[in-house]
Amino acid sequence: MINLSEISGLPIKFNEETYQISLGPQMRDPLYSTREIEPIRPLLLEPGCQAPEVLYWMYRNTGLKGDEHLLAKHRLRYDISIFVPAMLGPEYLKTSGHYHPPALAGGVAYPEVYEILYGEALYLLQKVDDYKAGPDEINVQDVITVRAYPGDKVIMPPDYGHVTINTLDVPLVMCNWVCDDFSSYYESVEQARGFAYYLVKEADEDKWIVNDKYANPIPPPREAQVQPVPEIGLETGVPMYTACRENPQLFAFLARPFDFEDVMWQGLKINA
Ligand SMILES: [Fe+2]
Repeated sequence: MINLSEISGLPIKFNEETYQISLGPQMRDPLYSTREIEPIRPLLLEPGCQAPEVLYWMYRNTGLKGDEHLLAKHRLRYDISIFVPAMLGPEYLKTSGHYHPPALAGGVAYPEVYEILYGEALYLLQKVDDYKAGPDEINVQDVITVRAYPGDKVIMPPDYGHVTINTLDVPLVMCNWVCDDFSSYYESVEQARGFAYYLVKEADEDKWIVNDKYANPIPPPREAQVQPVPEIGLETGVPMYTACRENPQLFAFLARPFDFEDVMWQGLKINA
């Protein structure tokens, strides 16, 4: 069992062999669910590939007992996800990818913030002109990739759809804070057979392959690095559960992104 309490700020242990986490008795019972391979198959480069039945587990809405106000009052939900280490054909294991809706009609979309607790992740972010449009009409305006390591807090900026990719041969454990007032949107990603790029391993090299389902040109991916943003609670060495618990106001950007657009972008340093 691996103790994740220092990195997460919560009494969590992780079993590397079974991929299960155990939450201390001080924690609230989450809503538990699994994500299976079948719904992901149509989004893969090789839909018929060999794959594990369960790709990842989600522990939704947990935290310490006594911290219920973070959701009830501040609308902030804390989830933990665990991804198995596996290849899906030539592709690294990934989530289907989704967009978030606008926080106010016509305005910027809800963001999200992830924190790596174990392993590594590569996030693929894409901004489009109309996230509900099909692959023949949709215009991909920007693509950003971010590699993240234990302790990193990674902003999924407003209006950027996101895919999580496990690029290691060990499990990935990550958590997120997100506003609980919306549902994610998946349909256009399904119609387009995934995001604009597939990450494949070819002769031990990582390579981005363009998804040719998208009829319009796709810009090249821009690499970004994670940067701390203490003004919004994203501080090196401080678990984001602890930061939010101590000062939930710092995480208001998740529920009111329209007031924090510029500061959120400080979390990603885009390579020139
Ligand atoms: Fe999301």
